[in-house]
Amino acid sequence: MASTKRIPMIAGNWKMHLTSREAADLAAAIKKGLDPDLKHEVLLAPGFTCLHAVKAALAGSKVFLSSQDVAWEEKGAFTGAVSPSQLIDAGCTAAIIGHSERRKIFLETDEIINKKLKAAIKAGLVPVLCIGETLEERESQKTYRVLETQLVGAFAGISAAEAAKTVIAYEPVWAIGTGKTATPDQAQDAHVFVRKQMERIYGKDYAEAVRILYGGSVKADNVDELMSQPDIDGALVGGESLKADKFLRVIHFQPVLSR
Ligand code: PGA
Repeated sequence: MASTKRIPMIAGNWKMHLTSREAADLAAAIKKGLDPDLKHEVLLAPGFTCLHAVKAALAGSKVFLSSQDVAWEEKGAFTGAVSPSQLIDAGCTAAIIGHSERRKIFLETDEIINKKLKAAIKAGLVPVLCIGETLEERESQKTYRVLETQLVGAFAGISAAEAAKTVIAYEPVWAIGTGKTATPDQAQDAHVFVRKQMERIYGKDYAEAVRILYGGSVKADNVDELMSQPDIDGALVGGESLKADKFLRVIHFQPVLSR
């Protein structure tokens, strides 16, 4: 049964796109187009250098600011890294952690992701933890095993209370940036599995409350169907979040069935 208590979240991951000016303009256009009565949460994750400009552009709105990554240390000799407190200083309330591009291109392991999750939680940032299988893993029937390993690894040594604010994003790697969206049924199946794993780790109450976003080629024209699935609590959107009109349509999704 779908829980109506989970507030939907639509997050835009702008990846390594846009200058500060472009990012501020896009944020301003999104802010302007938001239904003032919107009940669900909207989160924007621009690149580090755009955080200040986007924060300023979002002033007076309820849109949350997120980073796309976070360091696991608070300060010190970590050239190129950005700490949780630096992100909070720049106006972030959330941090995307363990995105598949970080895992694949920057070789982040579950152990690194676990450290980042702990650091974000300690600092009071809302972690948006990404998990997902590759095409090869799906085709060799390893999807569930991969998701379980990623979840167990990410949450190792973290209590249910500490993990309370964490949002999980299920993003099948084969659907990211490819235009190949998981079908609503495929996504729903994976979300049910993820929720079951979270129940196993932290118990039923936690599993019922945790928000699980779907990510991977979410578009204005497929969001309604995806958001009609009872265990899909939101979307993490890449490409489509770079176009204000399209992303606004995603934000204002209209479930085709009652959740
Ligand atoms: P996409 O990216 O929407 O462009 O597929 C999603 C993501 O990587 O978070």
